[in-house]
Amino acid sequence: MNRFKVVPGSQADFEEVWTTRETHLRGVRGFVTFHLLRGPKREDHTLYSSHSVWRSRADFEAWTQSEAFRRAHRDAGSNRPLYLGHPEFEGFEVIQTVESGAPTQRAKER
Ligand code: HEM
Repeated sequence: MNRFKVVPGSQADFEEVWTTRETHLRGVRGFVTFHLLRGPKREDHTLYSSHSVWRSRADFEAWTQSEAFRRAHRDAGSNRPLYLGHPEFEGFEVIQTVESGAPTQRAKER
């Protein structure tokens, strides 16, 4: 997850940068899913997170050194005025997963 503190009044522009971008993620080895998340609104910013899920840490690290990553970030610097300071990267490892699925389906079948 990369966290961005977006300055008041720039939320729409920030969301537009993301939602209209040309993504280079599809087909990258180990890529699972991507979300742009909007979080709490504070006095001086609204928190956003770009959240990507990868099959393994090695796949994620390979992507950060790939041409797909370079292409996705070619113009990223030009969007600096939209947020405070630097984006903050935090990597997480999945310890436990719980998903909806089998139990709900069984309930429906009955
Ligand atoms: C390890 C660090 C980073 C990770 C994991 C990361 C993650 C991502 C991901 C998953 C995307 C979407 C790529 C696609 O759809 O192909 C992206 C795009 C983007 N990233 Fe990063 N990023 C990192 C570093 C940075 C930094 C340092 C900046 C700010 C200078 C930044 C700003 C952006 C912006 C603005 C976009 C949208 C691209 C556009 O302008 O169209 N990222 N990033």
